[in-house]
Amino acid sequence: MCGIIGYSGHRPAVPLLLEGLHRLEYRGYDSSGVAFEQAGGLHVVKAEGKLSALEAKLEGLAHTLATTGMGHTRWATHGLPVERNAHPHLSQDGKIAIVHNGIIENFQELKEELSAKGHTFLSDTDTEVLAHLIGEERKDAPSLCEAFARALRRAHGAYAVVMMAAEEPGVIYAARMAAPLLMGVGVGECFVASDIPAFLPYTREVVFLEDGELARIKGPAWEVFSLTDLSPVKKSVSYVPWDMQAAAKGGYKHFMLKEIMEQPRVITDCLTGRVLEGEDGARVVLHELDHMPVPTRLHIVACGTSYNAGLWGRQLLENVGGIPTDLDIASEFRYRDPQILPGEAVMVISQSGETADTLAALRLAREKGCMVIGLCNVVGSSIAREADVVLYTQAGPEISVASTKAMCSQMVLIALMALYYGQRRSPAVGDAGLLRELCTLPERLSAALPVMQERAAQLAPRFSSARSFFYLGRGQCHALALEGALKLKELSYIHAEGYAAGEMKHGPIALIDPQFPTFALALDDALFAKVKSNIQEVLARQGRVIALVQEKDGRAPDLAVEELWVLPSAHPVISSFFALPALQLFSYRMADYLGKDVDQPRNLAKSVTVE
Ligand code: M6R
Repeated sequence: MCGIIGYSGHRPAVPLLLEGLHRLEYRGYDSSGVAFEQAGGLHVVKAEGKLSALEAKLEGLAHTLATTGMGHTRWATHGLPVERNAHPHLSQDGKIAIVHNGIIENFQELKEELSAKGHTFLSDTDTEVLAHLIGEERKDAPSLCEAFARALRRAHGAYAVVMMAAEEPGVIYAARMAAPLLMGVGVGECFVASDIPAFLPYTREVVFLEDGELARIKGPAWEVFSLTDLSPVKKSVSYVPWDMQAAAKGGYKHFMLKEIMEQPRVITDCLTGRVLEGEDGARVVLHELDHMPVPTRLHIVACGTSYNAGLWGRQLLENVGGIPTDLDIASEFRYRDPQILPGEAVMVISQSGETADTLAALRLAREKGCMVIGLCNVVGSSIAREADVVLYTQAGPEISVASTKAMCSQMVLIALMALYYGQRRSPAVGDAGLLRELCTLPERLSAALPVMQERAAQLAPRFSSARSFFYLGRGQCHALALEGALKLKELSYIHAEGYAAGEMKHGPIALIDPQFPTFALALDDALFAKVKSNIQEVLARQGRVIALVQEKDGRAPDLAVEELWVLPSAHPVISSFFALPALQLFSYRMADYLGKDVDQPRNLAKSVTVE
């Protein structure tokens, strides 16, 4: 949720921290702050609101000599999003500063204990309590490192913490427990951050910290210790192949639009090396799964958009892959004691690979002795490291808080998995037409996207005054309807409900009136006639309808709706890859037309690392 960056090296730290925070701002953005060394002490500057407020405060302040510092962009968990709750937080004597991502669950009891010893607190946060606890431990501990470890051993919950102290100039400490944190190793300098883009312009050499590890960094020198007994831990340095261009806007007004338009490239990257042409035609190659028996049942677990991708894929995994498939929201799965039988597998889907509920679901499945397949985008993320088998979706960095290209890549990978399992069960099973059209999809989608952009731009002003929307679909389009509604809600703050079209008549249809429009997915598949009837039911109640349809034999279907949005014809599964960006572009245009903050919608964070 919150974004953290720390630096120790030879460059002026503060500009570098601000630059890193800009690239982390998508993680949280209700306040921000930095700490740096100055005149033998620590200097802290914080501001409420966006990073520009912090930058304004730093202007004119003498900070250019500091070559060690840390910064934080916050997504509130404890306490209002106001300046006093912004990080960094200081110990009672002001000599130790920390920034933190996560939740210290026992902070109330620690606070009472410290208050009884005379500590006074300036914020409502759990983080400040931790800063005071480190200060308190320092009174008896033989070293700062030991005090840090002792305090963390007493803290329950999740944390990624970076610490600086006046007594050790040039040094930063970092520790993690159930929240992402990694180090970037540069030339004569080291970074610590919650995500790779924070330091990507400076280094691609990364050390992934594990839960229960603590690092001490001083310029080029870094060491990692076990939090339990401070024994040294050997770590290896990994190389991350991302470049900065991939993480920049590339001329688009928003990251979201750039990421929607990148989907043809994302599909190509996801297919690369995974489809082989042979004498008997094309085959799917997923070496990662070769050594694993075909699961007798697959339990898909995910959150938000990744869940919708799982819902979209369930039917394919069953019908094409021949694998009975269940689906769960991660926050439900983790607490319902799911029954998983020998031979079954859990598949977690996560763009970030850090979503707390999904990670907990993965751990639960492993505790039950179950094989876990991880579908992840972020290389080296917690889920990628802890899954038994990881399949990377290869979508590249997704910066906009609203997930777009990640879902597209998850759908491609699930389609490949379904085809792969179909092949393994019997080479005669599968769907050659689907694989063929998957391979030509990037080119067709590239041609279709500009037309979709225009159509979305036409429709947005016509529907922008609606306060509520239904999104209806059946089969795989039900999953897309949920995704369309999620995108509209999170970006434009218009209430939207995604529904299985056949379920409307069981209650929700009572809401239909001319102020409550419906976005119907009426694609050219086996359920078209059924969806058409559901559209008639809405029209009969004076509902306004946008229908997403496809040409058949060169003609659009005959539907008397207010707006027809015609997509290219395709294989029924491939049609979803046209419908998805149409839904994304509609929400994007609605939000932009209404003047909303598209890339950073209110109240949200890109990576949800708390429960
Ligand atoms: O990183 P993950 O895929 O695990 O994230 C899951 C959800 O938090 C995420 O998809 C969220 O719903 C997005 N804001 C949707 O646009």
